[in-house]
Amino acid sequence: MTKTHKDVEVLMNEQRVFSPPKEMADKSNIKAWMDKHHIKSYDELLKKAEDVEWYWGEVAKELEWFKPWEKTLDASKAPFYKWYTGGKMNIVHNAVDRHMKTWHKNKVAFIWEGETGEVKKLTYRDLYIQVNKFANALKSLGVKKGDRVSIYLPMLLELPIAMLACAKIGAVHSVVFSGFSAKALRDRMNDCGSKVLVTADGFYRRGSVVSLKHNADEALKDAPGVESVVVVKSVGNQVPMTTERDIYWHDMVEGESMHCKTEEMDPEDPLFILYTSGTTGSPKGIVHVHGGYAVGTYSTTRNVFDMKEEDIYWCSADAGWITGHSYVVYGPLINGTTSFMYEGAPSYPHPDRWWELIEKHGVTIFYTAPTAIRAHMRLGDEWPKKRDMSCLRLLGSVGEPINPEAWVWYHELIGKKTCPIMDTWWQTETGMHMISPVPMTVLKPGTATKPLPGIVADIFSEEGESLTDKGGLLVIKKPWPSMLRTLYKNPDRYTETYWSKYKGIYLAGDIARKDKEGYYWVQGRADDVLNVSGHRIGTAEVESALVSHAAVAEAAAIGIPHEVKGEAIRTYVVLRKTHTPTAELKDELRKWVGIEIGPIARPDEIWFVEDLPKTRSGKIMRRVIKAKAKGEPVGDLSTLANPEAVEGLDHLK
Ligand code: WTA
Repeated sequence: MTKTHKDVEVLMNEQRVFSPPKEMADKSNIKAWMDKHHIKSYDELLKKAEDVEWYWGEVAKELEWFKPWEKTLDASKAPFYKWYTGGKMNIVHNAVDRHMKTWHKNKVAFIWEGETGEVKKLTYRDLYIQVNKFANALKSLGVKKGDRVSIYLPMLLELPIAMLACAKIGAVHSVVFSGFSAKALRDRMNDCGSKVLVTADGFYRRGSVVSLKHNADEALKDAPGVESVVVVKSVGNQVPMTTERDIYWHDMVEGESMHCKTEEMDPEDPLFILYTSGTTGSPKGIVHVHGGYAVGTYSTTRNVFDMKEEDIYWCSADAGWITGHSYVVYGPLINGTTSFMYEGAPSYPHPDRWWELIEKHGVTIFYTAPTAIRAHMRLGDEWPKKRDMSCLRLLGSVGEPINPEAWVWYHELIGKKTCPIMDTWWQTETGMHMISPVPMTVLKPGTATKPLPGIVADIFSEEGESLTDKGGLLVIKKPWPSMLRTLYKNPDRYTETYWSKYKGIYLAGDIARKDKEGYYWVQGRADDVLNVSGHRIGTAEVESALVSHAAVAEAAAIGIPHEVKGEAIRTYVVLRKTHTPTAELKDELRKWVGIEIGPIARPDEIWFVEDLPKTRSGKIMRRVIKAKAKGEPVGDLSTLANPEAVEGLDHLK
């Protein structure tokens, strides 16, 4: 099956580096950009683009603006940076409307396939019409510029359509991943004060119907601000419809005009709010805006994926996450790309479903996550070998560091040793790729290589010194256009989380090392955020879900290495005296977290313990628990109120 560690070592010594084919590099979009600006080498570009105002000013000229901007970067109220002030634009004008003026209107924007094998295609003109109709329908529900609309949809075509329709009329979308629970949806809708919810009757997962509307109804019981619910009829399962509140999508758009004026937005007007996990129990509402986000997603899609007219591009991420926002919806559409979209389980009904889709639709660029690659590795090499994937020319990876075994497998089995792998490091907060190769970068398995043009990064010690060849905190030293603007309704938390450790410098929350060639090796999070299958989950979220159960007195969650998921969740639970530890209770608690947050957050392991190590002020010492779990020295225990609890972590399972 997969290679042994030793084989990989040999292989990596032989081809420790991999260079993209010369022809690809010579014809790459980034090379064309450099030529246009009389720049001779990529290193020269990186140097010149440290003048971020120059670089991002040049890039922004490639988009269409209703009114040109006056100031590229306004840092007067830092860290509340503003980009392209004085201008007028709308991201949807760039992603959809402007394509109506060229032959792009006839180009396919999305090829969609459902789990059952149904295929739909939408040209840019079809997309334009559907966006306009739905935008008009939203208006008729009373949605206005600045209003929030929550979207809780599986990967149906209606998902990008709904997002674009909101943005077109200046409303702010907040997409909630369809795998999240009713409670998670309710909290997010209430936090951002949504007026409308867009959802679906259900979707297929591994052959069975998941009733999404049921979850939505559960959430709506306690979301008084939501006035209307739009329901996409997708699988056609029977769902209750509440009169005066619920309306089917197809009934709503019927009779709506196919024309709709695109709102002229200030580049700094909010485009969306996307919730992501942080170090506390409540997720953070990351706010992105029309202007800078459009510029950043446009240029990175173009340069990193080398997007060409004839490409068929597939990003396997769900649009419920930032990767889907930036690299399924906005970045590709602004570039006029043909994208493939799949709504279904990866290895259903057979293990090579993904590879079959690549072969069938002729995908040329494929972007996925290391956890998915590892899951496919486990299924066996015979599955990708059965398929002709010679159509592929470039691969991408995102979500966590890609381990060299997975890199080599992806490169050989999927990329046929010819496709370069773009390992892209970025975050919900950054909006776009930050550290990533371009198709002329010499690659080394396991590193996202160098910061992209216009991104000034570094590795800092605690004291703020720049480090080389030593692990430290990853920071971004200058603002960039697609950066988050704030945390919704919580500007203080924004300043505190990202900008307070080093003045004027963005703290990413990751630990990384820069090697002598300036390549960045990201090692993982520096804070209490787990990365489970490429999804961010806060330990505090899992803990607060557990302690909300009647049986639980205290809980601590940590991440432990996992072959496929990267990290798995282990929790240590202290029960109330009224409850006894049983296998049934473990099951119940796992399910409970699934209901509270969503199946992705279900702990893999629950250990019942008598006590948890705590400081005298009552703070659970996760550092000690982690060290113990890894079999490492636990360090200084003198600050603990109950050092005996550390021993107790050993036995009780
Ligand atoms: C991690 C996903 C190493 C990192 C786009 C980051 C990565 C967090 C990579 C953001 C990569 C993402 N190499 N680590 N190529 N990509 N990460 O907000 O810890 O869901 O801080 O955004 O994922 O996760 P988020």
